[in-house]
Amino acid sequence: MLAQRRDSLHDRAHINKGKIMHPQRTPRFSFDFHGSSLDTIFDDYQTMHNQCPVSWSEHYGGFWTLTRMEDIRVAEHDWDTFSVAPSMILPSFGTDRPLIPLDIDPPELTGYRQILLPFFTPKRMDALLPRTHEIANDLLDDVANQDVFDASVYSRMVPAMVFGEYCGFPMQDAAQFDQWVEDIVFARTDDETIARAAAADVYDYFRDLIAQRRRDPGEDVISALLQADNRGQKLTDDEMLDICYLLFVAGLETTAGTIRVALWHLAQEPEALAALVADPSRIPKATEEFLRALSPVQAMARTLKVDTTIGGVAMKAGERVVLAFGAANRDPEVFECPHDIQLDRSSNPHIAFGAGAHRCLGSNLARREVNVALQEFIARYPKFELAEPTTWHGVGRLAIRPIL
Ligand code: HEM
Repeated sequence: MLAQRRDSLHDRAHINKGKIMHPQRTPRFSFDFHGSSLDTIFDDYQTMHNQCPVSWSEHYGGFWTLTRMEDIRVAEHDWDTFSVAPSMILPSFGTDRPLIPLDIDPPELTGYRQILLPFFTPKRMDALLPRTHEIANDLLDDVANQDVFDASVYSRMVPAMVFGEYCGFPMQDAAQFDQWVEDIVFARTDDETIARAAAADVYDYFRDLIAQRRRDPGEDVISALLQADNRGQKLTDDEMLDICYLLFVAGLETTAGTIRVALWHLAQEPEALAALVADPSRIPKATEEFLRALSPVQAMARTLKVDTTIGGVAMKAGERVVLAFGAANRDPEVFECPHDIQLDRSSNPHIAFGAGAHRCLGSNLARREVNVALQEFIARYPKFELAEPTTWHGVGRLAIRPIL
C-alpha cells in the first residue's frame, strides 16, 4: 500500500489547486484523516509506525504527519516552535476567524483558559449528572418498543441537550444545530462552500444570542462569560463570538462521535456488552478505551514558526504539521497490542483529549456524558446488534436492533 500511495503522490506532487507542492519533501505518505480515508486509517497508522513515523502528505496544501506519541508530546509542549496559528483545524471549520482558545498560543491563551476552566471543573460537571440521566432516559423513551431505531440520534442528542442547556443555547433550535454541525464538521472536506455557508449562519445566530444575553442575562455560560474578567478587561463581542463558535463545534460532535462508536462496537461484541451489563462500574474504563482506539478527533494541526528537526526529519518554518492523536493512541511503543480494543485495559495513557497547553477543556464533561449515555443505553437494552452494516466513523444512521 505504501508503494502505491507513494506512486500516486509522485503523479500529483507538483500541482495542488495550482500551487507548487514540495516534491523534495521526504519521506512521503499520502495520509488523510477525513471522510472515507478513515476506513483504512488504522492500517495507515501501522504502516507509518513501521516505515515512516514522520512523513509528508500532499493533502490540504501539504503537511508533515507525526505519528509517534513521543514526537507528538514534544510538539504539544513546544509552542514556540509548533504554533496553533493560523488554525489547529485542517481544513478549516468554514471560517478564517480564530477559534478561541484553540487557535491562540501562550501567553494570550492563559487568560482565555483561566476564564473558561471554572465552567468545566469536575464539581460543576458532577452537578449536570442528574439532568444527563434524565435526558438519556427521555431519549430512550422516544424509541421504546421499536424493532430497529437510529441510535445516532441518541448519540448526538445526549451531548447536544446537556451541553446546549448548560451553555444557554436555545434548545428549540436543536435540529438546526445538528444540521450546522454536520455541514461544518463533516461536509467541509467534500465541499467547502457548504461549511462556509453554515459557519456564516452560526456566527449570525450567536451574534444575536450574545446581544440578547447582554440585554437579558440568564443562569448560563454565555451570560456568565459576558461578566468574566480577562486581565482587567471584559471580553469583546468578537472574542465572545469566537469562543461560542468553538464551544458549539467542539462541545457537540466529539462526544456524539464517542457515544456512537462505543455503541457501534458493543453492537458487534456481545461478550464485551455482557461484561458491561453485568458490571456497569467497568463503563468508565471502557470509555477510555473507546477514546483511545476509536477517537473521533484523529488529528489536529500546528504550523512551524521556525525550522526544526523532529524524528530525524528536517522541516521548514511555515510548514503545517499534523499531530495524529489517533496514531499516538495506537503507538506500539506505548500500548501493548495497540490495535486490540480491550475494555479493561489497565494502562491507558491515551491523548484523545490532546496533551499540552491546549488539552481539551471539556474532557470532564465529555467523559461523564459518554459514561451516562452508555450506562442508560445498556440498562435499557442489555442485548443489541447492528441492523445495517456501518463503518466505525461517520454521521449517518446507526441502525440498532434490540435483541429481546
Ligand atoms: C470525546 C469528546 C472530546 C474529544 C475527543 C475532544 C478532543 C479535543 C482535542 C484533541 C483538543 C485539542 C487538544 C490539543 O491540541 O492538545 C480539544 C480542545 C478543546 N476541547 Fe475538546 N474534545 C471533546 C469534547 C469536548 C467538549 C464536550 C467540550 C466542551 C466544551 C470541549 C471543548 C474543548 C475546548 C474549549 C478546547 C480548546 C482548548 C484550548 O485550546 O485550550 N471538548 N478537544
